Amino acid sequence: MATSLIQPATPAAIARTAAHVRAGGLAAIPTETVYGLAADARNAQAVARLYAAKGRPAFNPLIAHMRDLEIAQTIGAFAPEAVALAEAFWPGPLTLVVRHAPRSVGDSVCALARAGLDTIALRAPAHPIAQALLDAFGGPLAAPSANPSGGLSPTTAMDVARGLGARAERILDGGRAGLGLESTIIAVLENTPPRILRPGPITAEALAAVLECEPQALLAPAPLSTDATAQGHAAPLSPGQLSRHYAPRRARLRLNAHNLLAGEVYLGFGRPPPGVYPLLNLAPGADLAHAAQTLFPALHALDAAGYRGIAIAPIPEHGLGVAINDRLRRAATTR
Ligand code: TXA
Ligand code: MG
Repeated sequence: MATSLIQPATPAAIARTAAHVRAGGLAAIPTETVYGLAADARNAQAVARLYAAKGRPAFNPLIAHMRDLEIAQTIGAFAPEAVALAEAFWPGPLTLVVRHAPRSVGDSVCALARAGLDTIALRAPAHPIAQALLDAFGGPLAAPSANPSGGLSPTTAMDVARGLGARAERILDGGRAGLGLESTIIAVLENTPPRILRPGPITAEALAAVLECEPQALLAPAPLSTDATAQGHAAPLSPGQLSRHYAPRRARLRLNAHNLLAGEVYLGFGRPPPGVYPLLNLAPGADLAHAAQTLFPALHALDAAGYRGIAIAPIPEHGLGVAINDRLRRAATTR
């Protein structure tokens, strides 16, 4: 394993990484959600290498990361609702999809990073190492989760090394990503009410409190198809929300399981059903934030250990449970 890829995120390593990315290179970096694979969002050649490193289809756009709302507003058009959300939740695990409206040619995120869309996904991460790299780099970083396309998101530097190896080019080690689940994505575009495209750590209730609307109004069902290109103009769509995603390589998942079938191991949540002995438990105390942190590591571990069938306890469909169940449903889809 190419562990020499991994560098502790010292100030010197951050400066070297910023120079590498400025020169068109790639680098995996910790954020407060999951590790991201970063490239200069304005450099189409660097972004092309980023898609290639992940094996990601070019129709699936990337999130551009920047330091704060002021910089974000040089790239995208922020309606008052988008400003309110950024002020409430940035820096943090919220991605805003807004119209791409660069203030100057130099502020433009390359079309490849946007997958040709005239919208742009923007996020100001809260992780101090991501922030230090953004400061040292001085521009927007395109950064999808640092895993091979369709696979489980990485929450440690070792996960990145195992999944991408030398294709990551370098990995800044900042310990375990704290939240463990990718950011909430909400589209705030003119002439259409704000809509959640991907549930995440910032819940519909928290967003609705800022927008002064009903949480349900933000949850209009998103198109769910494995064929994102067939979704036509159904706006606003999240091209990456393929039904099969976040998938282990070998293991098959069975959700809402109250029992064990032959050949399965049990991934618990809270108190297990009588007679069922969990191999792992996402959160013995039934705490959803804990389960969000342990979800991807548990799936990585069980997959790597070669288990073929994983029965997963029911997870309550509220708060962070909405995002956990979203990832589990996609991981369980066979096609
Ligand atoms: O927490 C996160 O968001 C992590 C960290 C690294 O920041 N990043 C992440 O990126 O999860 P990725 O590429 O794995 O997921 C980004 C999602 C994809 O589903 C993509 O389709 C969607 O964002 N997306 C990007 N641009 C979009 C746009 N203009 N409109 C709709 N969806 C968009
Ligand atoms: Mg991803």
